[in-house]
Amino acid sequence: MRVVLLGPPGAGKGTQAQIIAGRLGVPAISTGDIFRANVSGQTELGRQAKAYMDAGDLVPDEITVAMVKDRLAEPDAKAGFLLDGFPRTIAQAEQLRASLDELGQHLDCVLELVVDEDELVRRLSGRRMLVDGEWVQRDDDKPETVRHRLEVYRAQTAPLSGFYDAEGLLAQFDAIGTIEEVTARAMTALGQPGQSDDS
Ligand code: AP5
Repeated sequence: MRVVLLGPPGAGKGTQAQIIAGRLGVPAISTGDIFRANVSGQTELGRQAKAYMDAGDLVPDEITVAMVKDRLAEPDAKAGFLLDGFPRTIAQAEQLRASLDELGQHLDCVLELVVDEDELVRRLSGRRMLVDGEWVQRDDDKPETVRHRLEVYRAQTAPLSGFYDAEGLLAQFDAIGTIEEVTARAMTALGQPGQSDDS
């Protein structure tokens, strides 16, 4: 299966991506994780992405699209994938469609996690990551950057709902509740309810 996970910052894309991809037997591909690994590794890609990420802005489409194209060409993505955090602009969605067309492939479903903004801010301000044995806040989870990321989402990413709805691919669902409940809704939307924990 080829699936896109869409949703605002803090909606639970990364959390659900790992679980759903595991159940589908496909790789979870997170553009945010790939960028963060490159920033940590001090690569050229990381150097290009860092300032945009720290400011809560999107990394330019040409950088992001080339990176995803390379990742989708790897052998483990041939039979399917779950994309977390990509596409994030209409231009990225159009490039993804063109890349898949070239490969004779297509998306099966776009899952959109719906969460209200108060809950998003609560989740992101409370999030900590374990780095070198210490719990630290992600640089872009500072309150002012979270607010900016939400504005960027509304302006640049939210229009993707209409884009994919018009293609008959969009499945929106409530992403508030326990992680297991949200996974069950996602699996039902994918037509695979039997694989959820609480079905
Ligand atoms: P990215 O890493 O993709 O960040 P994001 O979309 O802002 O998403 P988050 O990781 O903040 O949240 P999430 O939805 O994954 O939620 P999570 O599961 O962590 O991107 C970071 C940056 O990289 C971007 O700002 C941009 O600069 C760049 N970038 C990435 N992709 C790009 C692209 N395509 N184009 C251009 N630039 C790009 O959960 C959040 C918290 O909530 C966690 O603490 C979690 O434990 C908790 N939680 C999860 N589920 C639940 C639940 N059901 N109930 C309560 N809490 C929950």
